[in-house]
Amino acid sequence: MSETRIDWTSGPGGPIRGDIGIPGDKSISHRAIMLAALAEGTSRISGFLEGEDTRATAAIFRSLGVSIEAPSESQRVVHGVGLHGLESSNVALDCGNSGTGMRLLTGLLAGQRFDATLIGDESLSRRPMRRVIDPLIKMGARIEAEEGGLPPLRIRGGQRLHGITYTPPVASAQIKSAVLLAGLYALGDTEVREVHPTRDYTERMLAAFGWPVDFSEGQARLGGGYRLRATDVDVPADFSSAAFFIVAATLVPGSELILRSVGLNPRRTGLLEVLRAMGADIRAEHRREQGGELVADLVVRHAKLRGIEVPLEHVPDMIDEFPILFIAAAAAQGRTVIRGAAELRVKESDRIATMAAGLRALGVRVAETPDGAVIEGGSIGEGEIDSAGDHRVAMSFVVAGAVAAGEVRVGDCANVATSFPGFLELAHRAGLGVRSAD
Ligand code: S3P
Repeated sequence: MSETRIDWTSGPGGPIRGDIGIPGDKSISHRAIMLAALAEGTSRISGFLEGEDTRATAAIFRSLGVSIEAPSESQRVVHGVGLHGLESSNVALDCGNSGTGMRLLTGLLAGQRFDATLIGDESLSRRPMRRVIDPLIKMGARIEAEEGGLPPLRIRGGQRLHGITYTPPVASAQIKSAVLLAGLYALGDTEVREVHPTRDYTERMLAAFGWPVDFSEGQARLGGGYRLRATDVDVPADFSSAAFFIVAATLVPGSELILRSVGLNPRRTGLLEVLRAMGADIRAEHRREQGGELVADLVVRHAKLRGIEVPLEHVPDMIDEFPILFIAAAAAQGRTVIRGAAELRVKESDRIATMAAGLRALGVRVAETPDGAVIEGGSIGEGEIDSAGDHRVAMSFVVAGAVAAGEVRVGDCANVATSFPGFLELAHRAGLGVRSAD
């Protein structure tokens, strides 16, 4: 008997069809709350992701004295307190499951007058924080962690920060953003130079809130001493959430799906390039700008996929999409080789290990490597998998069920609510044969 609670079962359903809206972008929703809280005046956020991760960030700012209203679903009205207006909280600040929340807040809190403690759930408590602590200490911050650089993090306030020039040792928008947010409070210029460019939402949004930022691909620099001005933010649909439906519609014969207003920031869409190279039929229509971001309606039709060697240059641009790529690769004809993706081992779960174990449980041949995997595609069998509490792993195996020989039983799905509230209902509506196991 498995010890994992089976939450959902997913089996072959009909073709994936219709016209669907995907919830708001998680990265942008976190940043919108943070910058609106530090701005002067009232900002309205529309399309806010009602996920547990982003709600945890909003709750943290409430406990730091920021008034945030939720007039209706996916809307937030944030009454900013200005750069120096946050108040200390007498409770630990709980980031839940969110690495983005904790890492960005570490940078932001390093520059405050008061002490703060950041905590997280079991998964977040195992994730490496040294990567943000090290550069912040170079800037003059005082931060204590548990052994191995793990949360909880205790951030000492009242430090005088100074700018640095920093090259993160791994491609990470979270490290870049933590350093830039601390840079708002630092004396002199703070610069981040990246070897592999990562998503630039922090830079773009700081500029939208009126803070001078000099940025181009792989480089961002700002100085301290300015003000953030309240700005309305219109959050596009999250490409990473859309990815599950893009792959489902690609794999299931007879499918044709439209996904509306999906964010297509080029630092997020590596999966599109890779799927197209595998033979996918995905068109981006009505390209336009929404809240300073490129968005489009994606039209996805069924296509037969073939295995591929994933080009290294796409890896940072699809870092959250590897779980669903494992499924596409397992269903494709031939071999898919993934390299240069060791970061997957320190996500919400060790995504190389959890995806390889899950696919093996469904009869797929997968060889794990330290920084990737080799997947022999062709067919997916039935079976039971443990998502290890990882939202993206759980959703990926729901998609696997749509093309499996029988039923895929997926355990430990509660964390899907961290990034994609309503996934089960939407998947069902689009034609996936998924249901709650109860
Ligand atoms: C994110 C950056 C990425 C990504 C995460 C969200 C962000 O993490 O995996 O889901 O919002 O900045 P890393 O920066 O650690 O690669």
